[in-house]
Amino acid sequence: MRGLDTGRIDPRIVRVITVLALTVSLLIMVALPTAYFVAARVATDATLRARADSAASVMTDFVTRNPEHWMFENARIRGRLTAFVEPGAPEQWRVLDGRGSPAAVFGQAASSPAVTITADIYDSGVVTGQVQVSRSIQDIVGWTSFLAVIGIALAGGSFILLRSLPLRLLAESMERLAQFQARERERAAQLAQASKLAQLGELATGVAHELNQPLTAITLAAQNALKQVERGAVNQETLAARLDRIVQMARRASTVIDHMRVFGRMGGEPSGPIAIAAAVRGARDLLAFKLQRQHIVVEEVLPPDLPPVIGQAVPLEQVLVNLIGNACDAYGVAEEDDPARVVTVTAALEGDRVTLRVHDAAGGIPLDVLPRIFAPFFTTKPVGQGTGLGLSISYGIITDMGGTLAADSADGTTTFTITLPAAPDGAQPAAPDRSLPAA
Ligand SMILES: Nc1ncnc2c1ncn2[C@@H]1O[C@H](COP(=O)(O)OP(=O)(O)OP(=O)(O)O)[C@@H](O)[C@H]1O
Ligand SMILES: [Mg+2]
Repeated sequence: MRGLDTGRIDPRIVRVITVLALTVSLLIMVALPTAYFVAARVATDATLRARADSAASVMTDFVTRNPEHWMFENARIRGRLTAFVEPGAPEQWRVLDGRGSPAAVFGQAASSPAVTITADIYDSGVVTGQVQVSRSIQDIVGWTSFLAVIGIALAGGSFILLRSLPLRLLAESMERLAQFQARERERAAQLAQASKLAQLGELATGVAHELNQPLTAITLAAQNALKQVERGAVNQETLAARLDRIVQMARRASTVIDHMRVFGRMGGEPSGPIAIAAAVRGARDLLAFKLQRQHIVVEEVLPPDLPPVIGQAVPLEQVLVNLIGNACDAYGVAEEDDPARVVTVTAALEGDRVTLRVHDAAGGIPLDVLPRIFAPFFTTKPVGQGTGLGLSISYGIITDMGGTLAADSADGTTTFTITLPAAPDGAQPAAPDRSLPAA
């Protein structure tokens, strides 16, 4: 049997269980001998009382016949009462006259401790003497002591059982709960990663476009430089300008790839101060192609003195990509002459929390849909276009950061409100860590 590991259990619970086990064990220890002693005493008193009363009634009859001299009739008194004496019992009988002097004494002397029962003898309704029976209760005391020893042993055993059994069950269920929570966390992380990769997949067209631009520029610059070299008319200045453009464009392409790499890597980033503006910019960059294609403008209303929030940069960016992406999906495909559609991102410090709102006017969320949008796999998008995981994962990410995420929809507009704990005064946001290798 494994040793009892109560390390996970709150010490107050351990104390309460220990005290309860101790109390029950003490009760068992005291109850067993006490119950026996009380029951044995009650039974002894009752039988002695019955026998003493019967003997007194025989004596009353005897006294009535011989009221003057009964107290001198020792042998006859004994003869009358012998039937009431329990043979071999540790009890002594005494018949006393009106002055308390013994008229007859018989039976064994009752050694201490003893109980004494007295019954009155009457002569014409007046008390004229007493029958007294004293019985030793040494046997009862002996059995009580024996049961007390057994009670101690039982109490010891029950203390161990009553303390260790609930603690063991508690420790086991807590361990199972911890394992379950660890599995759940792992599953949530995998789901978040899957959803993020799905988002990346969706953004692939945009990324291809983002990369295509610098690659086309690089190719053109390189071709022009090559032509110059082939013609043998190398102009150092224009050649240097073209090579510089090639470097610029290559950097731009690598920035795009870097961003995708960081965004796509598996979580595990530690919590720390992060800048809201950087997360919004990151999400906008990732969605640049989609926004442009759908004629959507992201308006940022971010106060310059907004403090950083405590959280993780990439997961927050993932949440914003989903919220802004959802707004884009709600606006739908743009017609050629559609005016620009707007997604507004506002942030404000409210108490010790930063509130971040993502607002669109794309038609709103129907009231019957609104209560279900945070449920995993809930989507109103056609098959293949939405996994329905975006909001449920965003909700998990924000609550894990100690924040809240809520949705509101009215008059054809939708607002998602995120609150996050503001970083303490003076905390500097960490630059996003781009050091991990590409997956
Ligand atoms: N800004 C919005 N306007 C209208 N409906 C929205 C908006 N944001 C979310 N919804 C509704 O909530 C649903 C759930 O959104 P969620 O982000 O969880 O999943 P999804 O966008 O459908 O799929 P995924 O995010 O996996 O691509 C959407 O299908 C849509 O019906
Ligand atoms: Mg979504």
